[in-house]
This record gives sequence, C-alpha cells and structure tokens, in this order.
Amino acid sequence: MKKALKVFGIMLGFILLLLIIGGAYIEFNDLPKYKVEVPDYPEFVADSHMVAEGKRTFALVCNNCHMAPNGKLEGKYLPEIPSMFGKVWSANITNDPVNGAGQYSEAELAYLLRTGIQRDGDFIPFMPLFNHLTDSDLQNVIAYLKSDAPELAGNGKAQPRVQASFLGKLLCNTILKPAPYPLTPIPDPTPGDEVALGKYLVDGKLDCYSCHSPDFMTLNKDEPEKTPGYLSGGNKMQDVEGHPIVSRNLTPDRETGLGNWTEDQFILALRTGIRPAGPALRFPMTPFTQLTDEEAKAIWAYLKTVPAIHNPIERIDN
Ligand code: HEC
Ligand code: HEC
Repeated sequence: MKKALKVFGIMLGFILLLLIIGGAYIEFNDLPKYKVEVPDYPEFVADSHMVAEGKRTFALVCNNCHMAPNGKLEGKYLPEIPSMFGKVWSANITNDPVNGAGQYSEAELAYLLRTGIQRDGDFIPFMPLFNHLTDSDLQNVIAYLKSDAPELAGNGKAQPRVQASFLGKLLCNTILKPAPYPLTPIPDPTPGDEVALGKYLVDGKLDCYSCHSPDFMTLNKDEPEKTPGYLSGGNKMQDVEGHPIVSRNLTPDRETGLGNWTEDQFILALRTGIRPAGPALRFPMTPFTQLTDEEAKAIWAYLKTVPAIHNPIERIDN
C-alpha cells in the first residue's frame, strides 16, 4: 500500500514538473514559427478594374483593422481583441520596405493571406485566415496592395508586435494553427446563382458566420455551415471601449432571429447600421457600406435558406 502511494506520489510530482516546464516554455517563448513555403503564384498585370475591385474588397474586409484614423493603412491598436488573449496591434501594410509590407512579393502576400504565416515564418493568430476567398478576389486584393493608392504610400510608422498573453500563447501552441495553402483553384460562385453568392459572402468573404455563430472556439473553418449553432448568434466580443457585446441570431427563426424582417429592413441595417426597431448597431458590427445591391440581396436570399434555430439573445446595453 505504502509502495503504491509512493509510486503515485512520484508520478504526480513528475506530471507537475512537466506542467511547470511546459508552462514556462510557453510563457518565455514567442509565438511558434512555421516554415514558409511560398507557392508558385501566377504573374499577372493588374488593370484598373482589378485594383478598384481589390480596394472595395479591402474596404469590406480589412479596413476596420488596418486603417488608422488618418485614413492611412499604417495599422493601429485593436482594443476589441479581448485582453485575455493579449495586446494586439495590426500591422503597417503600406509600401514602406522596413516598417510596412513593401518587401512582400505577390506570392508571399497570397501565402500570408491564405495560411496566416508571415514572410519571416511568424504565425499571426489575430488576423482572420482568408483561405475561402476566391482566387480572383485574392488576386484583386493583392493588385490593390501593390498599387500606388495614396493610403498605401510608404509610411515609416512602426507598430508594436503582438504581445500575446499566456492564454494567447497557449492557444497558439495548441489549437490555433495556420491553414494549409489551397492546392486546388477556388473559383467564383456561378454567375446568376444568388444563393451561392450569398453563401460565399457569409461564409467565405465577409465572415459573417464566425461572429454570428455562438463561439469562436467551435467554428468549423473547413465547412462553416457545420459549425454548431451556425449563425444563431450569442458570440461574446468587445466594443472599442472593451465593453462586452454579443452577436445576434441571423437564422430565419421568427421569434429570436430575422424571421420577421423584410429584405429592405435587412439591407438597410447591413449598409447603415439602422435597425427596424431599437437602437442602431454598434461596433464591431460596422456597416458594410460598399456592398452592391446584388450582394446585399444575395446575402438575404442565402440567410433565408439556413435552418432556423431558436436562440434568444439578450442585447447588452453599455
Ligand atoms: C481582425 C483584424 C484584422 C483584419 C480583418 C485583417 N488584418 Fe491584416 N493583420 C492584423 C494583425 C493583428 C496583423 C499582425 C500584426 C503583427 O503580427 O504584429 C496583421 C498583419 C497583416 C499583414 C502582414 C504585414 C507584415 O509586415 O508582415 C498583411 C499584409 C495584412 N495584415 C493584410 C491584410 C489584408 C489584405 C486583410 C484583408 C483581406 C487583412 N489584413 C485583414 C489584423 C487584421
Ligand atoms: C466582427 C464581428 C461581426 C461580423 C464580421 C458581422 N457581424 Fe453582424 N453583428 C455583430 C454584433 C456584435 C452585432 C450586435 C450589435 C449590437 O448589439 O449593437 C451584430 C448585429 C447584426 C445584425 C442585427 C440583428 C438584430 O437582430 O438586430 C445583423 C442583421 C447582422 N449583424 C448581419 C451581419 C451580416 C449579414 C454580416 C456579414 C456581411 C455580419 N453581420 C458580420 C458582429 C458581427
């Protein structure tokens, strides 16, 4: 009996020691590094249409995080990232070769946006992965980033690197991983298929599903519609002052979702933040002002096809 206790004690001690070493390793090390396997990216000549479309996609998807209050893409502190994960500044992505993204080749940009791995091998866990963006949308964004748009003009502003907390580092050493670079082409949705365009916008391009499903930790990034509670809201996040805010149910449930909204009410809310009743929508639900009519209608058409989930959500007033 005594011997068994002793063995148990030794094992327990050993496990504790492993935990302490593991914890110290994570605490004192940076975020994990990865091998950079830059793909063969097709050379292309950007025309003004590609740059303009890339700029529009950037405004819809990237501006919120990268545009400083002065209108330049020099990065900024992101107060909305919960502090338990650490302190996060977005990068300066102007064409400055030292503090901006001027040294990135087109292929390196494609690799970063698809996988989350920077050209020096660092993984950036706090930027969404753009591994569902279609090849043409990705190419347009790259064409824009390489253009001579004034907001991208080289600007030497240095932003601090991400300061991940212990929890942030732990997650990056365990569940938060880069995505594989896609091996097959990602085509645009079939022209004329409204629901397919809507699904692409919700799951792939505008990432509505990740904020509007119940928890960032349970997202199914390969097949978004298989996420538990897909689009039924309840995901807790923070506004710019760090106050809690919770996303809402976008499924067609009549009582707790958008079942009683009209298409016009939905499009107005999406573009301007004005809701049919009650106060306006708050950050981080920023108005998608740059959506075309076709895109806004397609999102509505798709949302009507998803399974209704009854999930009442209390609005938090700050
Ligand atoms: C949720 C906020 C967020 C969004 C949205 C976002 N980014 Fe980022 N981005 C970041 C953060 C944070 C970093 C990394 C900063 C660091 O590691 O120090 C980053 C880094 C980058 C870098 C790397 C710069 C470098 O010097 O290594 C590029 C390029 C970039 N982002 C482009 C984009 C593009 C293009 C989009 C839209 C398709 C986008 N980002 C959307 C937050 C965001
Ligand atoms: C960064 C996270 C985020 C993203 C991305 C996002 N939303 Fe939201 N959304 C929210 C939050 C948070 C609220 C609640 C805002 C409030 O209470 O003021 C909200 C509210 C809404 C509402 C209001 C619903 C109601 O019952 O009042 C609609 C409609 C909506 N979002 C649609 C969308 C669509 C469509 C997309 C994609 C094009 C999208 N959202 C992308 C976070 C997000």
